[in-house]
Amino acid sequence: MALMSSQTASFNKALGEMAKAVNSDLIVSEKLDRLVKLAPRALAVRGCSLLLLDAQKRHLIHAAAHDLSERYRRKGLIEPEKSLSETMEGNAVMVADAATDSRIQFQELARQENVVSIMSVPLKIRGEIAGSLRVYSRTHREFTSREEAFLTTAANLVGIVLDSNQSKEGGIAPREDGAEVSPRSLPVVTPLRPTTFAHPSEEEFARLLDFYQIEWLYEPRSFPLQWEEGRITEMFTPDFYLPGLDLYIEMTTLKPRLTREKRQKVHRLRELHPEVNVNLLARRDYDRLLAKYGYGPLAGSKTRGVGRVLFSTAQIQRKVRHLAKQISQDYEGSHPVLVGVMRGVFCFMADLMRALTVPADVDFMAISHYEAEKGGAVRITKDLEINPEGRHLLLIEDIVDTGMTLRFIVEHLKSRKPASLAVCTLLDKRVRRLADIPLTYVGFQVPDEFLVGYGLDYQEEYRNLPFVALLEEESDAGQGA
Ligand code: IMP
Ligand code: MG
Repeated sequence: MALMSSQTASFNKALGEMAKAVNSDLIVSEKLDRLVKLAPRALAVRGCSLLLLDAQKRHLIHAAAHDLSERYRRKGLIEPEKSLSETMEGNAVMVADAATDSRIQFQELARQENVVSIMSVPLKIRGEIAGSLRVYSRTHREFTSREEAFLTTAANLVGIVLDSNQSKEGGIAPREDGAEVSPRSLPVVTPLRPTTFAHPSEEEFARLLDFYQIEWLYEPRSFPLQWEEGRITEMFTPDFYLPGLDLYIEMTTLKPRLTREKRQKVHRLRELHPEVNVNLLARRDYDRLLAKYGYGPLAGSKTRGVGRVLFSTAQIQRKVRHLAKQISQDYEGSHPVLVGVMRGVFCFMADLMRALTVPADVDFMAISHYEAEKGGAVRITKDLEINPEGRHLLLIEDIVDTGMTLRFIVEHLKSRKPASLAVCTLLDKRVRRLADIPLTYVGFQVPDEFLVGYGLDYQEEYRNLPFVALLEEESDAGQGA
């Protein structure tokens, strides 16, 4: 009886402190940190973790943890079906012995962490499963229904914190003209942001992803690469995971001399986990990415000249006629709307339209541009004039590079219920693709080089060239190419 009442007292105290944290002016990550610290303490266990489903509900991600090692938190991909799946169906799960229970995905890691018993309860946001809250005991433990009820209350508090964060940061964004923009495919949760990056280039990259509203996680997990006598001896932690694209990104900008080693690790990761998509972003690729927006070492001087011509006027015109023929055949009998994304596309679009044999409407969209200093997000600054509902839309692009712009626009257009949506691009820089949106019509595949002319600019210059050329590398400049 004495034990019962002391537990009642400690539950009451913890719930009081939790409610206070939820209602405080702390930022979201601090509130979650408080909750995952208070819950295990009241239950007299050591570790606690908050796992959240990613946007595609394919993986669980550690969003907050208390008293668990870095290694345990960053264990491999946690698959909802493999890790205490009953929690994901809405039921609490008790594990008496994690090291032997087949419901545990990473038994060896649990053993190394001295995790013996686990209690896992579902985390719901407005009635929908969004993850789970778990506590870990280092000694054998049978959890009671009172303890389950307590942890469920803690999970409900977590749900309130996440939900209020979401309605603050996402959801339906009002537009300047008062019309509602449909909600973009928001992740279930806004994952925690680290406050410190290992390198400024990582922070810059994170800001770029933020701009394109691509959800990212910084070093969310490690993959075991090597074992000795059942112990993990080598782990690999990619820098970023982009849940919406299901893509890991490893940047090699920090220490170029480590590039070789990183390549090997990526290679090994692909061997061990063929289902994992991982991309290596080399320093050069990264500098080019930034240069596109006028930043980084490759940007700077406006005096760079035009290098080799890649596609002549005649080559471009032949290609445009060929694309127009294909499009005219595919859209025979219908009346599509050509949607151009300003501004680089105007040369291509004007030529393409004049070569079509089907009637077509034209309309344009414009979006805001990335500026490193301003922490903004990509915005539509000019939307369609034509109502696209029920129309056949053909999105026209000059060039698709990372695909991040295209992804944003395609999602926006889809939300406006067109009868169909296809994409036509003159140039496809496929090697640099991060967001892989299917392209229906492609003019030319182009190498990983910065291109100018035929509408494409470098800092507003060179759009008027009647051909497509490479921009001279800075090191080439002045050498009289
Ligand atoms: P993405 O979002 O990285 O695919 O970038 C697409 C946009 O970046 C294009 O619509 C262009 O405006 C611009 N862009 C990408 N590559 C080049 C290039 O080589 N030259 C000029 N502009 C480019
Ligand atoms: Mg463009």
